[in-house]
Amino acid sequence: MLIRSRRGWELPESSVTPEAAVMGRRGALTAGAGLLAAAALPGEASAQGQAMRNLRFRPERDVTAERDATTYNNFYEFNTSKDVVRQAQRMRTSPWSIRFAGLVEREREIGLEDLLRQVSLEERIYRFRCVEAWAMTVPWTGFPMSQLIRLAAPKPEARYVVFTTVEQRDTMPGLRSPAVPWPYEECCTVEEARNELSFVATGMYGKPLPNQNGAPIRILFPWKYGFKSGKSIIRVTFQTEQPVGTWEQIQPAEYGFWANVNPQVAHPRWSQASERLLGTNERVATRLFNGYEEFVAPLYSSVMNQRIFY
Ligand code: MTE
Repeated sequence: MLIRSRRGWELPESSVTPEAAVMGRRGALTAGAGLLAAAALPGEASAQGQAMRNLRFRPERDVTAERDATTYNNFYEFNTSKDVVRQAQRMRTSPWSIRFAGLVEREREIGLEDLLRQVSLEERIYRFRCVEAWAMTVPWTGFPMSQLIRLAAPKPEARYVVFTTVEQRDTMPGLRSPAVPWPYEECCTVEEARNELSFVATGMYGKPLPNQNGAPIRILFPWKYGFKSGKSIIRVTFQTEQPVGTWEQIQPAEYGFWANVNPQVAHPRWSQASERLLGTNERVATRLFNGYEEFVAPLYSSVMNQRIFY
């Protein structure tokens, strides 16, 4: 990366916010379940709260305390420290719409509420692994990305999808930095986007997504490094040629198109063999495809080589 001096992804371990023990490990799980059961929450929160947990996706880890997952963020549109909560509150998240562009049957813009009426919300607890070697486990509310792709109606020749983040010059001071080629864009193959793990989140911990975590709508690829999971998405573009995402543009030797989690393939400047859990700071072994091999290995069966891990 070019941003040598203030690289958020390389903050020393000492700068990590210690867990405030807001709730115990078991407490976090139970509270999450409680929120799901609460049907009487008003408006948007109610939609998140009523989503049923999909038990097919087993966290196999304690859920990260909500406070840790919502106060230690990478959102470079605001700043490159992990502390973006205050600044992110200025972002306007309503009204919101998403544009389906490029190789689609019909280019169009769809309002978020309209979109959400046409998908089925559920809750999934996913492990999330940042390329910086920290990790969290979060109950997300949202819908399978395959449903978004269906609504976008890509043409048969579309092979890749690009997800673009909003640019709000007046609320996002980080956009003034010339070190990043804005807007933030990340990408995958259409096949990856249709994989059952690929998810579009509108909430976490049974509540609407906080701004700092990518409100009102963000994407998640839990088997890939976290930088692929773009926040506050406003455009979904289909194309035939392989896109170059934001981080690949910044430093192609370190952040590539695939970015699949693999403990064996070190980042050029640090090991990826283990990860630090947000909150407890416990060090645990990193797993191939972040432990989601059974879901995604078929995507790469013909190309199981180093290339798919950058
Ligand atoms: N999306 C946008 N638009 N801007 C960003 O800076 N950071 C990425 C990803 N999505 C980023 C982004 C990185 S590096 C990570 S690890 C995750 O968001 C962090 O998500 P979280 O803050 O919800 O934990």
